[in-house]
Amino acid sequence: MKILAIETSCDETAVAVVEGPDTGDGRTITLLGNALYSQIAVHAPYGGVYPNLAKREHQSNLVPLAVEALTQAKLLEKSTGVGPISEGALGDVRDPSFRASIQEFLEAHLRPDVDYIAVTHGPGLEPALWTGINFATALSKAWDIPLMGIDHMEGHIVSALLLPQGGNKYQIADPKLPLLSLLISGGHTEFVRMDEWFLYERIGETKDDAVGEAFDKVARLLGLEYPGGPKIAEFAARSREKGETDIVFPRPMAHDNTCDVSFSGLKTAVLYKLKKMEEISETDKEHIAAAFENAARDVLVMKSARALEESKAESFAVAGGVSANAEIGRGLQEMIKEKFPDIEALFPDATLTGDNAVMIGGAAYLRLRAGKKPHDELSASGSQRLA
Ligand code: KG4
Ligand code: ZN
Repeated sequence: MKILAIETSCDETAVAVVEGPDTGDGRTITLLGNALYSQIAVHAPYGGVYPNLAKREHQSNLVPLAVEALTQAKLLEKSTGVGPISEGALGDVRDPSFRASIQEFLEAHLRPDVDYIAVTHGPGLEPALWTGINFATALSKAWDIPLMGIDHMEGHIVSALLLPQGGNKYQIADPKLPLLSLLISGGHTEFVRMDEWFLYERIGETKDDAVGEAFDKVARLLGLEYPGGPKIAEFAARSREKGETDIVFPRPMAHDNTCDVSFSGLKTAVLYKLKKMEEISETDKEHIAAAFENAARDVLVMKSARALEESKAESFAVAGGVSANAEIGRGLQEMIKEKFPDIEALFPDATLTGDNAVMIGGAAYLRLRAGKKPHDELSASGSQRLA
């Protein structure tokens, strides 16, 4: 089974081709092609992601990335005889230059040997999501290939299950259920329990900012460029090389008896600290970054321990952009080893922590293998939730 997967929910445009056995017990998938363009440099001057700018970037990058991924997969053959593409296939694509680029692509190539097309349909920025959906729908109609909508957060969960086997092979982990997932990204911070495959229950979430958002906002307060997560981590690491900082920020909601979290008070504490300082040196910034990261880590570690306890989980997955954070990862691993030594903890490979299409292909593969059916029609659902 070969799946062409497309991800455009935020500021990464990504296309991948994954292949796996359609029957039997095989759990190894092969990444035949993988092309990703990060728009970070485009959005950085604005300090955040602009939905319409993201949409425009997705529109100009989708066709070249699809060509790249399908060429890597050796599935793209040029043709002069395809003939004009029916208006119906391009019906949903309104932007004239995007439409022209898809039409040109379809007319210049033969239908590739792909069995399904998977695309992220939410959550995310709606204009960005629509671009991917319209593109996927046009290919699906022109090539008569079934279309499958995938939830972006389910994709992140699956990213933690993809265990690299070397080369372009990944074994899909088969975690014991219930699986508890800690989803930490720019737009989400939540604990989701899966008792049965694809059936989710939310057991905790942020009451205000997502943790990635807090990293980005604190970075901005420190004058560090977007996206702030990696920058804060870099500054914090330098502070730790110089010895522990004596700055301590609060751990909001850490001791209440829920699995909910909150990060906006922590961000405000950083703001007040900065206001009280007259001059802020690079070293000050490093220590503040470390103190912030310590507080965010502790909140996530304490709440994960509670959530693991409460959910009676047998396995634990951590995923989303913030799962790239080494200090948070270290704190979580240490807690698991100490308090839940029997629980299998899964973290995404470093190449899969951010948004990508491999996880979307992986999620589609698992759904199809479980007998889930493709969709007739898709629409973008910006605030869609797993549970
Ligand atoms: O999952 P993702 O790539 O996009 C969303 O779906 O939101 O997550 C992006 C978020 C951003 O807020 C970014 O600052 C954060 O992940 N991030 C990090 C790190 N790398 C990315 N946060 C902390 N430490 C990092 N190393
Ligand atoms: Zn994401």
